[in-house]
Amino acid sequence: MSEQLLITEKIKLACGATIEKWTLNRPKVLNALSPELVAELDKQCKRLLSEIAADINSVRGLYLTGSGEKAFVAGADIASMLEYSSAQAGSYSKKTQDCFFNFEKLPIPVVAAVNGYALGGGCELALSCDMIFASENAVFGLPESLLGLLPGFGGTVRMTTRVGMGNALDLMYSGRKVKSSEAQKMGIVQRMFSSVEELNLEVQKYFDSFLAKTTPVSIAAIKRLAVANNKDLTVAGNNRENEVFAENFNTKDSKEGIKAFLEKRKANFIGA
Ligand code: CAA
Repeated sequence: MSEQLLITEKIKLACGATIEKWTLNRPKVLNALSPELVAELDKQCKRLLSEIAADINSVRGLYLTGSGEKAFVAGADIASMLEYSSAQAGSYSKKTQDCFFNFEKLPIPVVAAVNGYALGGGCELALSCDMIFASENAVFGLPESLLGLLPGFGGTVRMTTRVGMGNALDLMYSGRKVKSSEAQKMGIVQRMFSSVEELNLEVQKYFDSFLAKTTPVSIAAIKRLAVANNKDLTVAGNNRENEVFAENFNTKDSKEGIKAFLEKRKANFIGA
């Protein structure tokens, strides 16, 4: 039997509310986002949305985490992009952007529980959640420039909105990785915990602290407003990003960057 790419569980909290926990499950490749995993995320998003539409009290919150000890998600699946044409890269980016939009639109609080590397597409997935809780060993970054690429899953927009132009450009130009403590100072991380076990417990405690005291009607309205306020910028920015991400796949440097990563060597970029 093939392994489940995304493990979904329902958790009944002490307060009586039910939340879901989703675990991205490709630990051998640090939970890299293959097109199949993105399709599964999208399918589960739609399933959850229809459950909530049928009964607003059915599921009151969601959190997302990664399986294994090392990563939340280490990015788009670099191996799957090796032979991509510009059109295929554009389609991968568009489908993933749409999936992340569906996350943003879920009418319940959504927390990314980041337990290791959240890089590239993994960082972009975390940024499309309402907030990020992280363990001390979490590492964030948008290292696409080191591969001759650029963020293609909404990161050029969402990182800039989250941390401002200067910090976002610093991360995207240099591709540098930041630990939880620096990410918290920048505003990427909202809460930090000392271990992965504590992270898991505290995310559940967080939901437990307010779900029974609040109505899902106000929570959904608050979320709708917060998302709507950024929507025009996010949609236009994602469209531009998608176009440029696809075009960039026509460059020799994008092929070289991907090949160099897979061959575990330094990239020899030529500027074309
Ligand atoms: N895609 C595919 N495979 C990946 C991967 C990814 N994003 N990240 C890691 N892996 C694989 C590695 O190739 C390796 O596989 P093998 O065992 O078969 O060699 C396995 O996962 C374990 O990884 P490492 O041996 O590299 O582990 P490490 O501890 O030495 O390093 C790491 C960890 C720093 C996260 C390193 O794996 C890394 O730099 N990964 C890539 C991060 C990255 O560049 N992400 C951006 C991807 S592009 C993107 O996301 C574009 C976009 O927006 C659309």
